[in-house]
Amino acid sequence: MIFISLLSAGTPVFVQTGTDLLLDVKEPVDLNELDLFTWKVNGSVNVVRLINGNLTISPNYTSRAELSAQNHSLLLKNVQKGDSGVYRAHVAAETNTDVAEYSVTVLDPVSGVKLTVKLCSSDSTKVTVICSTEDSLINSTFTCDNQTCSHEGGERAEIITPGVSLDVYLENGSVICNHSNQVSSTRDIQKIEEFCKKPEGKS
Ligand SMILES: *[C@@H]1O[C@H](CO)[C@@H](O)[C@H](O)[C@H]1NC(C)=O
Ligand SMILES: *[C@@H]1O[C@H](CO)[C@@H](O)[C@H](O)[C@H]1NC(C)=O
Ligand SMILES: *[C@@H]1O[C@H](CO)[C@@H](O)[C@H](O)[C@H]1NC(C)=O
Ligand SMILES: *[C@@H]1O[C@H](CO)[C@@H](O)[C@H](O)[C@H]1NC(C)=O
Ligand SMILES: *[C@@H]1O[C@H](CO)[C@@H](O)[C@H](O)[C@H]1NC(C)=O
Ligand SMILES: *[C@@H]1O[C@H](CO)[C@@H](O)[C@H](O)[C@H]1NC(C)=O
Ligand SMILES: *[C@@H]1O[C@H](CO)[C@@H](O)[C@H](O)[C@H]1NC(C)=O
Ligand SMILES: *[C@@H]1O[C@H](CO)[C@@H](O)[C@H](O)[C@H]1NC(C)=O
Repeated sequence: MIFISLLSAGTPVFVQTGTDLLLDVKEPVDLNELDLFTWKVNGSVNVVRLINGNLTISPNYTSRAELSAQNHSLLLKNVQKGDSGVYRAHVAAETNTDVAEYSVTVLDPVSGVKLTVKLCSSDSTKVTVICSTEDSLINSTFTCDNQTCSHEGGERAEIITPGVSLDVYLENGSVICNHSNQVSSTRDIQKIEEFCKKPEGKS
């Protein structure tokens, strides 16, 4: 139960592994002498604590977390997947207030994609291509007359990771295969008339 409510809390933020993450506190925070300001992860792990101008960065974060003295934003450097979680900036004073809340997901960039021809009809008007990645593939059929090609549909065989999408589409006479998630995308492009040109291609 707690797990679910934690996961659904806060502004979603997606960040790529190895990059720096800045979590802003949007409104100015006024702290009185005994007020305690904290950034916590998952409700329990302290990242920084600030009381009476005294800043404590938790041992696990000493070399990679910084708190902005001006606006209390948290900078977390070189984030890893284990840094995913719900981040809350909190002021404990006469009343307790959350002043910022983010649901952070650290993701690896997607792998590359490769577009290959599976079938060319003898008159080259029907082309089936396969777009593949390390762990999934999608095939797609296009029919062409002399000038234009249209997308006829396709099927996918996939072990898709949540949040990852793999799409094949036609744009401006080229077939584009696009592999993307919230933090990155890769693509392979080929002009449609080039697909059926090399019948000897055997790899
Ligand atoms: C900051 O913390 C140190 C050690 O805990 C303490 O000696 C010092 O008085 C504190 N400074 C302020 C301004 O509270
Ligand atoms: C520090 O990190 C280690 C390994 O990730 C973890 O086991 C430990 O609980 C953390 N300590 C604190 C105080 O968060
Ligand atoms: C807060 O301060 C940091 C570092 O000084 C800055 O990068 C960031 O843009 C500031 N955020 C806001 C909301 O002012
Ligand atoms: C927060 O909880 C999530 C889900 O249990 C976990 O994957 C993540 O490593 C935790 N984050 C931190 C910094 O402990
Ligand atoms: C396509 O081109 C061929 C030869 O260039 C021509 O004979 C044929 O009529 C054209 N078909 C269409 C639908 O334009
Ligand atoms: C497309 O992929 C599906 C699933 O792997 C397969 O069943 C189907 O025969 C393929 N179609 C073509 C035209 O390659
Ligand atoms: C489509 O291709 C033409 C000619 O190659 C080019 O001039 C145009 O900018 C392209 N449009 C798009 C949206 O890529
Ligand atoms: C790939 O697809 C995603 C999601 O549809 C889109 O946001 C992104 O701009 C596309 N990337 C490229 C390189 O076309």
